[in-house]
Amino acid sequence: LTETPLGQGNKVERFTSSGFILAAIGSSVGLGNMWKFPYITGLYGGAAFFLLFIVCLILVGLPILLAEMTIGRGGRGNAASSFSNLASDKNWKWLGFLMVLTAFLIMAYYGVVAGWTLQYTVDSLSGALSKPGMDFEKQFFDFAGGYWPLFWQLVVMVICGIVVGKGISGGIEKFNKYLIPGFLIILLILMFRALTLPGAAAGVEFFLKPDFSVLTGESALIALGHAFFSLSLGMGCMLTYGSYVQKEQSLGKATVAIGIGDLGYALIAGLIIFPTVFSYGIESDKGVGLAFMALPAAFSQMPLGTVFGGLFFLLLAIAALTSAVSILEVPVAYAMSAWKWSRKKAAAIISAVCYVIGIPAALSVGGVLTDWTPFGKNVFDWFDFTTAYVLMPLGGLVVTLFTGYAWKRAGEEAGLTGFWYRAWMFSLRYIAPVLILAVLLYSIFVKPV
Ligand code: PFF
Repeated sequence: LTETPLGQGNKVERFTSSGFILAAIGSSVGLGNMWKFPYITGLYGGAAFFLLFIVCLILVGLPILLAEMTIGRGGRGNAASSFSNLASDKNWKWLGFLMVLTAFLIMAYYGVVAGWTLQYTVDSLSGALSKPGMDFEKQFFDFAGGYWPLFWQLVVMVICGIVVGKGISGGIEKFNKYLIPGFLIILLILMFRALTLPGAAAGVEFFLKPDFSVLTGESALIALGHAFFSLSLGMGCMLTYGSYVQKEQSLGKATVAIGIGDLGYALIAGLIIFPTVFSYGIESDKGVGLAFMALPAAFSQMPLGTVFGGLFFLLLAIAALTSAVSILEVPVAYAMSAWKWSRKKAAAIISAVCYVIGIPAALSVGGVLTDWTPFGKNVFDWFDFTTAYVLMPLGGLVVTLFTGYAWKRAGEEAGLTGFWYRAWMFSLRYIAPVLILAVLLYSIFVKPV
Protein backbone atom coordinates (compact mmCIF):
# COMPACT_ATOMS: atom_id res chain seq x y z
CA LEU A 1 0.00 0.00 0.00
CA THR A 2 1.37 3.40 -0.87
CA GLU A 3 0.33 6.52 0.94
CA THR A 4 -1.87 8.92 -0.98
CA PRO A 5 0.60 11.43 -2.46
CA LEU A 6 0.32 14.89 -0.97
CA GLY A 7 0.52 18.32 -2.50
CA GLN A 8 3.68 20.27 -2.94
CA GLY A 9 5.77 20.92 0.17
CA ASN A 10 3.57 18.66 2.30
CA LYS A 11 5.31 15.96 4.24
CA VAL A 12 3.93 12.77 5.71
CA GLU A 13 2.92 13.55 9.29
CA ARG A 14 2.38 11.50 12.45
CA PHE A 15 1.00 12.06 15.94
CA THR A 16 2.97 10.92 18.99
CA SER A 17 0.91 8.32 20.84
CA SER A 18 -0.12 10.56 23.76
CA GLY A 19 -0.61 13.43 21.32
CA PHE A 20 -3.08 11.37 19.37
CA ILE A 21 -5.12 10.44 22.44
CA LEU A 22 -5.24 14.07 23.55
CA ALA A 23 -6.19 15.32 20.10
CA ALA A 24 -8.91 12.71 19.74
CA ILE A 25 -10.32 13.52 23.17
CA GLY A 26 -10.10 17.20 22.22
CA SER A 27 -12.13 16.43 19.13
CA SER A 28 -14.77 14.37 20.88
CA VAL A 29 -15.18 16.68 23.86
CA GLY A 30 -16.85 19.75 22.49
CA LEU A 31 -20.03 21.74 22.36
CA GLY A 32 -21.74 18.37 22.18
CA ASN A 33 -20.71 17.51 25.74
CA MET A 34 -21.08 20.90 27.32
CA TRP A 35 -23.98 22.44 25.44
CA LYS A 36 -26.01 19.81 23.61
CA PHE A 37 -25.73 16.86 26.01
CA PRO A 38 -27.05 18.66 29.11
CA TYR A 39 -30.04 20.10 27.31
CA ILE A 40 -31.08 16.91 25.57
CA THR A 41 -30.64 15.11 28.90
CA GLY A 42 -32.97 17.69 30.41
CA LEU A 43 -35.51 17.24 27.62
CA TYR A 44 -35.43 13.48 27.07
CA GLY A 45 -35.40 11.89 30.49
CA GLY A 46 -32.58 12.93 32.87
CA ALA A 47 -30.59 10.07 34.39
CA ALA A 48 -32.42 7.40 32.40
CA PHE A 49 -31.39 9.19 29.21
CA PHE A 50 -27.80 9.35 30.43
CA LEU A 51 -27.80 5.56 30.88
CA LEU A 52 -29.21 5.10 27.40
CA PHE A 53 -26.49 7.32 26.06
CA ILE A 54 -23.85 5.13 27.75
CA VAL A 55 -25.39 1.99 26.21
CA CYS A 56 -25.38 3.57 22.74
CA LEU A 57 -21.83 4.73 23.21
CA ILE A 58 -20.65 1.22 24.06
CA LEU A 59 -22.74 -0.81 21.63
CA VAL A 60 -22.50 1.42 18.58
CA GLY A 61 -20.26 4.43 19.17
CA LEU A 62 -17.04 2.73 20.26
CA PRO A 63 -17.11 0.01 17.56
CA ILE A 64 -17.53 2.70 14.88
CA LEU A 65 -14.86 4.86 16.47
CA LEU A 66 -12.44 1.94 16.25
CA ALA A 67 -13.54 1.23 12.68
CA GLU A 68 -12.92 4.83 11.58
CA MET A 69 -9.45 4.97 13.12
CA THR A 70 -8.63 1.58 11.63
CA ILE A 71 -9.67 2.62 8.12
CA GLY A 72 -7.59 5.79 8.46
CA ARG A 73 -4.47 4.04 9.64
CA GLY A 74 -4.89 1.15 7.22
CA GLY A 75 -5.64 3.35 4.22
CA ARG A 76 -3.23 6.18 5.09
CA GLY A 77 -5.19 8.64 3.00
CA ASN A 78 -7.89 11.23 3.52
CA ALA A 79 -11.51 10.48 4.38
CA ALA A 80 -12.20 9.53 0.75
CA SER A 81 -8.98 7.97 -0.52
CA SER A 82 -8.47 5.76 2.55
CA PHE A 83 -11.47 3.75 1.39
CA SER A 84 -10.26 3.34 -2.16
CA ASN A 85 -6.74 2.52 -0.93
CA LEU A 86 -8.19 -0.45 0.93
CA ALA A 87 -11.06 -1.71 -1.19
CA SER A 88 -11.00 -3.33 -4.57
CA ASP A 89 -14.06 -1.35 -5.54
CA LYS A 90 -12.82 2.21 -5.94
CA ASN A 91 -16.34 3.64 -5.75
CA TRP A 92 -16.19 3.55 -1.96
CA LYS A 93 -14.28 6.79 -2.18
CA TRP A 94 -17.41 8.64 -3.24
CA LEU A 95 -19.11 7.60 -0.05
CA GLY A 96 -16.03 8.79 1.78
CA PHE A 97 -16.25 12.05 -0.09
CA LEU A 98 -19.72 12.51 1.36
CA MET A 99 -18.09 12.60 4.77
CA VAL A 100 -15.70 15.32 3.66
CA LEU A 101 -18.69 17.34 2.59
CA THR A 102 -20.40 16.70 5.91
CA ALA A 103 -17.34 17.96 7.79
CA PHE A 104 -17.35 21.07 5.67
CA LEU A 105 -20.99 21.82 6.51
CA ILE A 106 -20.55 21.09 10.21
CA MET A 107 -17.57 23.41 10.35
CA ALA A 108 -19.70 26.20 8.93
CA TYR A 109 -22.24 26.23 11.75
CA TYR A 110 -20.07 24.86 14.56
CA GLY A 111 -17.95 27.97 14.12
CA VAL A 112 -21.00 30.11 14.83
CA VAL A 113 -21.73 28.51 18.19
CA ALA A 114 -18.03 28.44 19.04
CA GLY A 115 -18.05 32.19 18.38
CA TRP A 116 -20.90 32.71 20.85
CA THR A 117 -18.82 31.05 23.56
CA LEU A 118 -16.02 33.57 23.01
CA GLN A 119 -18.36 36.54 23.34
CA TYR A 120 -19.93 35.04 26.47
CA THR A 121 -16.48 34.50 28.00
CA VAL A 122 -15.63 38.16 27.51
CA ASP A 123 -19.06 39.35 28.69
CA SER A 124 -18.97 37.20 31.80
CA LEU A 125 -15.51 38.34 32.83
CA SER A 126 -16.29 42.00 32.16
CA GLY A 127 -19.41 41.84 34.33
CA ALA A 128 -21.75 42.60 31.41
CA LEU A 129 -23.77 39.49 32.24
CA SER A 130 -24.25 40.17 35.91
CA LYS A 131 -26.51 43.19 35.97
CA PRO A 132 -29.37 42.69 38.45
CA GLY A 133 -32.75 41.82 36.95
CA MET A 134 -31.35 41.00 33.53
CA ASP A 135 -33.49 39.06 31.06
CA PHE A 136 -31.06 36.44 29.81
CA GLU A 137 -33.23 35.16 27.05
CA LYS A 138 -33.56 38.60 25.55
CA GLN A 139 -29.87 39.20 26.13
CA PHE A 140 -29.00 36.06 24.18
CA PHE A 141 -31.20 36.85 21.20
CA ASP A 142 -30.12 40.49 21.17
CA PHE A 143 -26.55 39.32 20.93
CA ALA A 144 -27.03 36.38 18.57
CA GLY A 145 -29.34 38.45 16.40
CA GLY A 146 -26.80 41.24 15.98
CA TYR A 147 -23.62 41.32 13.96
CA TRP A 148 -21.06 40.57 16.65
CA PRO A 149 -21.43 36.82 16.09
CA LEU A 150 -19.94 37.35 12.62
CA PHE A 151 -16.85 38.85 14.20
CA TRP A 152 -16.46 36.02 16.72
CA GLN A 153 -17.08 33.42 14.06
CA LEU A 154 -14.25 35.00 12.11
CA VAL A 155 -11.99 34.79 15.16
CA VAL A 156 -12.81 31.08 15.47
CA MET A 157 -12.09 30.44 11.80
CA VAL A 158 -8.80 32.33 11.92
CA ILE A 159 -7.64 30.40 15.01
CA CYS A 160 -8.61 27.08 13.42
CA GLY A 161 -7.03 28.03 10.10
CA ILE A 162 -3.73 28.88 11.81
CA VAL A 163 -3.64 25.75 13.98
CA VAL A 164 -4.52 23.41 11.12
CA GLY A 165 -2.14 25.30 8.80
CA LYS A 166 0.72 24.49 11.17
CA GLY A 167 0.15 20.79 10.71
CA ILE A 168 -0.27 17.76 12.90
CA SER A 169 2.58 17.82 15.41
CA GLY A 170 3.33 21.55 15.24
CA GLY A 171 -0.33 22.62 15.16
CA ILE A 172 -3.11 20.28 16.20
CA GLU A 173 -1.10 18.18 18.64
CA LYS A 174 0.48 21.20 20.36
CA PHE A 175 -2.82 23.07 20.56
CA ASN A 176 -4.48 20.16 22.35
CA LYS A 177 -1.47 19.51 24.59
CA TYR A 178 -1.69 23.01 26.03
CA LEU A 179 -5.44 23.37 26.17
CA ILE A 180 -6.70 20.00 27.42
CA PRO A 181 -4.89 19.98 30.81
CA GLY A 182 -6.03 23.57 31.45
CA PHE A 183 -9.49 22.48 30.49
CA LEU A 184 -9.48 19.68 33.04
CA ILE A 185 -8.40 22.00 35.86
CA ILE A 186 -11.17 24.52 35.11
CA LEU A 187 -13.67 21.69 34.87
CA LEU A 188 -12.79 20.36 38.31
CA ILE A 189 -12.93 23.82 39.88
CA LEU A 190 -16.40 24.38 38.43
CA MET A 191 -17.61 20.95 39.47
CA PHE A 192 -16.46 21.57 43.04
CA ARG A 193 -18.22 24.95 43.03
CA ALA A 194 -21.44 23.50 41.62
CA LEU A 195 -21.61 20.55 43.99
CA THR A 196 -21.13 22.73 47.05
CA LEU A 197 -23.96 25.13 46.20
CA PRO A 198 -26.98 25.00 48.51
CA GLY A 199 -29.62 22.71 47.02
CA ALA A 200 -27.16 21.11 44.60
CA ALA A 201 -28.35 17.63 45.55
CA ALA A 202 -31.63 18.02 43.65
CA GLY A 203 -29.67 18.64 40.45
CA VAL A 204 -27.43 15.64 41.06
CA GLU A 205 -30.48 13.51 41.67
CA PHE A 206 -32.14 14.65 38.46
CA PHE A 207 -28.99 13.81 36.53
CA LEU A 208 -28.04 10.54 38.21
CA LYS A 209 -31.20 8.91 39.60
CA PRO A 210 -32.94 7.20 36.72
CA ASP A 211 -36.68 7.09 36.20
CA PHE A 212 -37.15 4.74 33.27
CA SER A 213 -40.83 5.54 32.89
CA VAL A 214 -39.95 8.83 31.20
CA LEU A 215 -38.06 7.18 28.34
CA THR A 216 -39.60 6.91 24.90
CA GLY A 217 -38.45 5.44 21.61
CA GLU A 218 -37.50 8.95 20.68
CA SER A 219 -35.14 9.16 23.66
CA ALA A 220 -33.26 6.13 22.35
CA LEU A 221 -32.84 7.58 18.88
CA ILE A 222 -31.71 10.92 20.22
CA ALA A 223 -29.25 9.14 22.51
CA LEU A 224 -27.81 7.22 19.58
CA GLY A 225 -27.57 10.29 17.39
CA HIS A 226 -25.80 12.06 20.18
CA ALA A 227 -23.35 9.21 20.74
CA PHE A 228 -22.33 9.79 17.13
CA PHE A 229 -21.99 13.52 17.38
CA SER A 230 -20.21 13.32 20.68
CA LEU A 231 -17.55 10.89 19.46
CA SER A 232 -17.05 12.93 16.26
CA LEU A 233 -18.14 10.00 14.09
CA GLY A 234 -19.59 9.67 10.63
CA MET A 235 -17.76 12.56 9.03
CA GLY A 236 -14.27 11.28 8.57
CA CYS A 237 -12.76 13.10 11.50
CA MET A 238 -11.52 10.10 13.49
CA LEU A 239 -10.62 8.50 10.19
CA THR A 240 -8.44 11.44 9.18
CA TYR A 241 -6.84 11.62 12.64
CA GLY A 242 -6.35 7.84 12.43
CA SER A 243 -4.32 8.24 9.25
CA TYR A 244 -1.66 10.08 11.31
CA VAL A 245 -1.39 7.35 13.98
CA GLN A 246 1.79 5.30 14.19
CA LYS A 247 1.64 1.60 13.43
CA GLU A 248 2.80 0.62 16.94
CA GLN A 249 -0.07 2.38 18.71
CA SER A 250 -2.90 0.19 20.02
CA LEU A 251 -6.15 1.38 18.47
CA GLY A 252 -8.18 -0.75 20.89
CA LYS A 253 -6.65 1.03 23.88
CA ALA A 254 -7.12 4.37 22.14
CA THR A 255 -10.82 3.58 21.67
CA VAL A 256 -11.24 2.87 25.37
CA ALA A 257 -9.33 6.01 26.36
CA ILE A 258 -11.34 8.25 24.04
CA GLY A 259 -14.62 6.66 25.16
CA ILE A 260 -13.77 7.17 28.83
CA GLY A 261 -12.62 10.73 28.12
CA ASP A 262 -15.79 11.64 26.29
CA LEU A 263 -18.09 10.04 28.83
CA GLY A 264 -16.12 11.47 31.75
CA TYR A 265 -16.46 14.98 30.37
CA ALA A 266 -20.17 14.52 29.74
CA LEU A 267 -20.57 13.31 33.33
CA ILE A 268 -18.66 16.23 34.79
CA ALA A 269 -20.50 18.71 32.54
CA GLY A 270 -23.79 17.35 33.90
CA LEU A 271 -22.46 17.62 37.45
CA ILE A 272 -21.71 21.29 36.83
CA ILE A 273 -24.81 22.30 34.95
CA PHE A 274 -27.68 20.59 36.75
CA PRO A 275 -26.65 21.40 40.34
CA THR A 276 -26.02 25.00 39.27
CA VAL A 277 -29.39 25.58 37.63
CA PHE A 278 -31.33 23.59 40.27
CA SER A 279 -29.65 25.45 43.06
CA TYR A 280 -30.97 28.76 41.72
CA GLY A 281 -34.41 27.35 40.94
CA ILE A 282 -34.01 27.67 37.16
CA GLU A 283 -35.72 25.14 34.91
CA SER A 284 -33.48 22.50 33.38
CA ASP A 285 -35.54 21.93 30.25
CA LYS A 286 -34.50 25.17 28.62
CA GLY A 287 -33.43 23.40 25.42
CA VAL A 288 -30.78 25.10 23.38
CA GLY A 289 -30.83 27.97 25.83
CA LEU A 290 -29.60 25.95 28.79
CA ALA A 291 -25.97 27.01 28.46
CA PHE A 292 -26.52 30.52 27.12
CA MET A 293 -29.60 31.56 29.11
CA ALA A 294 -30.15 29.41 32.19
CA LEU A 295 -26.52 29.23 33.29
CA PRO A 296 -25.73 32.95 32.99
CA ALA A 297 -28.86 33.56 35.06
CA ALA A 298 -27.50 31.25 37.75
CA PHE A 299 -24.00 32.72 37.62
CA SER A 300 -25.37 36.24 37.94
CA GLN A 301 -26.75 35.33 41.37
CA MET A 302 -23.70 33.39 42.55
CA PRO A 303 -20.99 34.99 44.72
CA LEU A 304 -17.99 35.59 42.43
CA GLY A 305 -20.30 34.70 39.58
CA THR A 306 -18.37 36.77 37.05
CA VAL A 307 -15.30 34.59 37.62
CA PHE A 308 -17.17 31.29 37.60
CA GLY A 309 -19.29 32.33 34.64
CA GLY A 310 -16.17 33.45 32.79
CA LEU A 311 -14.46 30.15 33.55
CA PHE A 312 -17.50 28.21 32.37
CA PHE A 313 -17.62 29.94 29.01
CA LEU A 314 -13.86 29.74 28.65
CA LEU A 315 -14.25 26.01 29.13
CA LEU A 316 -16.92 25.89 26.50
CA ALA A 317 -14.72 27.90 24.15
CA ILE A 318 -11.73 25.57 24.60
CA ALA A 319 -13.93 22.52 24.08
CA ALA A 320 -15.35 24.07 20.93
CA LEU A 321 -11.99 25.08 19.47
CA THR A 322 -10.26 21.72 19.99
CA SER A 323 -13.22 20.11 18.20
CA ALA A 324 -13.38 22.70 15.46
CA VAL A 325 -9.74 22.14 14.44
CA SER A 326 -10.47 18.43 14.05
CA ILE A 327 -13.43 19.16 11.81
CA LEU A 328 -11.42 21.53 9.63
CA GLU A 329 -8.64 18.96 9.27
CA VAL A 330 -10.98 16.65 7.31
CA PRO A 331 -11.46 18.86 4.21
CA VAL A 332 -7.92 20.23 4.53
CA ALA A 333 -6.43 16.72 4.40
CA TYR A 334 -8.64 16.04 1.42
CA ALA A 335 -7.54 19.14 -0.49
CA MET A 336 -3.88 18.41 0.25
CA SER A 337 -3.95 15.06 -1.47
CA ALA A 338 -6.83 15.32 -3.95
CA TRP A 339 -6.02 18.78 -5.26
CA LYS A 340 -2.34 18.85 -4.28
CA TRP A 341 -2.72 22.05 -2.32
CA SER A 342 -0.12 22.96 0.27
CA ARG A 343 -1.37 22.62 3.86
CA LYS A 344 -1.29 26.36 4.48
CA LYS A 345 -3.19 27.16 1.32
CA ALA A 346 -5.80 24.48 2.07
CA ALA A 347 -6.28 25.68 5.65
CA ALA A 348 -6.62 29.32 4.57
CA ILE A 349 -9.01 28.77 1.68
CA ILE A 350 -11.21 26.18 3.38
CA SER A 351 -11.60 28.09 6.62
CA ALA A 352 -12.48 31.20 4.59
CA VAL A 353 -15.13 29.33 2.59
CA CYS A 354 -16.57 27.75 5.75
CA TYR A 355 -16.77 31.23 7.23
CA VAL A 356 -18.78 32.54 4.31
CA ILE A 357 -21.11 29.54 4.29
CA GLY A 358 -21.64 29.91 8.02
CA ILE A 359 -22.77 33.54 7.76
CA PRO A 360 -26.42 32.76 6.87
CA ALA A 361 -26.48 30.31 9.80
CA ALA A 362 -25.13 33.00 12.11
CA LEU A 363 -27.77 35.46 10.96
CA SER A 364 -30.66 33.09 11.51
CA VAL A 365 -30.62 32.85 15.30
CA GLY A 366 -32.48 35.99 16.24
CA GLY A 367 -30.97 37.90 13.31
CA VAL A 368 -32.26 39.10 9.95
CA LEU A 369 -32.67 35.58 8.55
CA THR A 370 -34.51 34.14 11.55
CA ASP A 371 -37.87 34.11 9.86
CA TRP A 372 -36.61 32.82 6.56
CA THR A 373 -37.66 29.20 6.91
CA PRO A 374 -37.52 27.39 3.58
CA PHE A 375 -39.19 23.96 4.02
CA GLY A 376 -39.99 24.70 7.62
CA LYS A 377 -36.59 25.40 9.16
CA ASN A 378 -34.27 28.34 9.27
CA VAL A 379 -30.74 28.04 7.92
CA PHE A 380 -29.12 27.29 11.27
CA ASP A 381 -31.59 24.50 12.00
CA TRP A 382 -31.12 23.11 8.52
CA PHE A 383 -27.38 22.85 9.06
CA ASP A 384 -27.91 21.12 12.39
CA PHE A 385 -30.58 18.77 11.09
CA THR A 386 -28.93 17.68 7.85
CA THR A 387 -25.52 17.13 9.40
CA ALA A 388 -26.26 15.68 12.86
CA TYR A 389 -29.37 13.70 11.99
CA VAL A 390 -28.89 12.68 8.37
CA LEU A 391 -25.35 12.98 7.04
CA MET A 392 -23.46 11.81 10.12
CA PRO A 393 -25.55 8.64 10.55
CA LEU A 394 -25.15 8.06 6.83
CA GLY A 395 -21.38 8.39 7.16
CA GLY A 396 -21.51 6.01 10.12
CA LEU A 397 -23.41 3.52 8.01
CA VAL A 398 -20.74 3.70 5.32
CA VAL A 399 -18.05 3.00 7.93
CA THR A 400 -19.89 0.04 9.46
CA LEU A 401 -20.72 -1.56 6.12
CA PHE A 402 -17.22 -1.05 4.80
CA THR A 403 -15.50 -2.48 7.87
CA GLY A 404 -18.08 -5.18 8.55
CA TYR A 405 -18.54 -6.49 5.03
CA ALA A 406 -16.22 -5.04 2.39
CA TRP A 407 -12.76 -4.83 3.93
CA LYS A 408 -11.55 -8.23 4.99
CA ARG A 409 -8.42 -7.27 6.88
CA ALA A 410 -9.83 -4.81 9.36
CA GLY A 411 -9.21 -7.09 12.35
CA GLU A 412 -5.52 -7.31 11.53
CA GLU A 413 -5.13 -3.53 11.29
CA ALA A 414 -7.14 -2.98 14.47
CA GLY A 415 -5.07 -5.63 16.28
CA LEU A 416 -8.17 -7.54 17.40
CA THR A 417 -8.54 -11.32 17.55
CA GLY A 418 -10.82 -13.84 19.29
CA PHE A 419 -13.68 -12.59 21.39
CA TRP A 420 -13.07 -8.87 20.88
CA TYR A 421 -12.85 -9.26 17.13
CA ARG A 422 -16.11 -11.21 17.05
CA ALA A 423 -17.84 -8.70 19.31
CA TRP A 424 -16.60 -5.82 17.16
CA MET A 425 -17.78 -7.47 13.97
CA PHE A 426 -21.12 -8.35 15.53
CA SER A 427 -21.75 -4.72 16.31
CA LEU A 428 -20.54 -3.51 12.90
CA ARG A 429 -22.46 -6.07 10.91
CA TYR A 430 -25.73 -6.32 12.79
CA ILE A 431 -26.34 -3.95 15.69
CA ALA A 432 -24.93 -0.68 14.38
CA PRO A 433 -26.39 -0.71 10.85
CA VAL A 434 -29.88 -1.53 12.09
CA LEU A 435 -29.87 1.11 14.79
CA ILE A 436 -28.37 3.72 12.50
CA LEU A 437 -31.00 3.02 9.89
CA ALA A 438 -33.66 3.47 12.55
CA VAL A 439 -32.21 6.88 13.45
CA LEU A 440 -32.02 7.91 9.83
CA LEU A 441 -35.56 6.90 8.95
CA TYR A 442 -36.91 8.45 12.10
CA SER A 443 -35.09 11.72 11.45
CA ILE A 444 -36.23 11.95 7.88
CA PHE A 445 -39.81 10.73 8.12
CA VAL A 446 -41.04 11.15 11.67
CA LYS A 447 -39.32 14.16 13.09
CA PRO A 448 -41.19 17.06 11.59
CA VAL A 449 -38.81 18.83 9.24
N1 PFF B 1 -17.63 15.76 19.09
C1 PFF B 1 -17.86 17.16 19.02
C2 PFF B 1 -18.74 17.59 20.15
O1 PFF B 1 -19.22 16.76 20.92
O2 PFF B 1 -18.99 18.77 20.26
C3 PFF B 1 -18.47 17.62 17.75
C4 PFF B 1 -17.76 17.13 16.54
C5 PFF B 1 -16.40 17.33 16.41
C6 PFF B 1 -18.46 16.46 15.60
C7 PFF B 1 -15.74 16.83 15.33
C8 PFF B 1 -17.81 15.96 14.53
C9 PFF B 1 -16.45 16.14 14.41
F1 PFF B 1 -15.82 15.67 13.39
